Amino acid sequence: MKVKIHTLFQYLLDTTETDPEAFIGFSLAESPKLGDFLDDLDPEMSLDWNLKSFRGLPSLRQRVIDQAGLGKICTADDVLITAGAAEANYLAFMQLVEAGDEVVTETPGWPQIEVLAKAKGATIKLVERDEAAGWALPLDELEKLVTEKTRLIFLTNPNNPTGKLLSTEDLYRIAQIADKVGAWLIVDEVYAGLEWTADRAPSIAGIYERGITTGSVSKALGLQGLRTDWMICRDKNMVMDAIILRENSSEIMNVMGEVIAEVALRPDRLSQALAKARRDSIATLEYLDTYIAVEPILS
Ligand SMILES: Cc1ncc(COP(=O)(O)O)c(C=O)c1O
Repeated sequence: MKVKIHTLFQYLLDTTETDPEAFIGFSLAESPKLGDFLDDLDPEMSLDWNLKSFRGLPSLRQRVIDQAGLGKICTADDVLITAGAAEANYLAFMQLVEAGDEVVTETPGWPQIEVLAKAKGATIKLVERDEAAGWALPLDELEKLVTEKTRLIFLTNPNNPTGKLLSTEDLYRIAQIADKVGAWLIVDEVYAGLEWTADRAPSIAGIYERGITTGSVSKALGLQGLRTDWMICRDKNMVMDAIILRENSSEIMNVMGEVIAEVALRPDRLSQALAKARRDSIATLEYLDTYIAVEPILS
């Protein structure tokens, strides 16, 4: 079945192809410039891709494991570098879910999985986050929706759009719920690193063997234009299935994107960039709150 457009993408198409007076839709930190990386790049580096790994640059894959705090549980071979966390979600979904399967996801949430489930003929079941409950994910409700037919649970942590964070205990409980029926569990953590008041939550790939972490330099580091992001999963067949599907679309990686992403994820650079992104986003939130407070029609 054909993949249909969703409301958010229609909005993005409309706003990027016109000249809006103001745009409040940016979802990422201020982007660095190419010049910020030049000192760490080698002008002699070949742009040839031959004889490289289909999983992605090994040193970048190791940085991905390190930034996720998975060094004791996962190896660089559990990482696949992808063209966006969006591609990582896509590859995992397409290789795991068949028509007639049930997929459980959250609302409000990231629309990608619902759109793909409709196109595949899978049944989507939505667990509702309630504003009155501070947007917490109701785990008892989630448990009720999971059945023997559930093939996949898809969540975002921190949640897009509410920012609500799942705790370590929540993640263990969700993994248990998935494990009871053998379901796969994708936790998309593209916003990891932007937590304002709490520590970053652990990555699901370290908690659950059928757990798939998808992540990105797009948001907290503002590097969405690199299209150099990842999935992490300890199940070797899952990662290989993703490589097999990707061979039929983007095939291989962007070699320039990989070296820049590796530099961006070096610990010193990463901690400085995250501290700046958090400072800037807290200031943006205060600005927005002040604006909304004086606008009678907004809350
Ligand atoms: C939850 C979520 N997942 C994935 C993406 C896509 O990220 P990427 O640029 O890494 O493909 C976004 C972008 O807004 C997002 O909000």
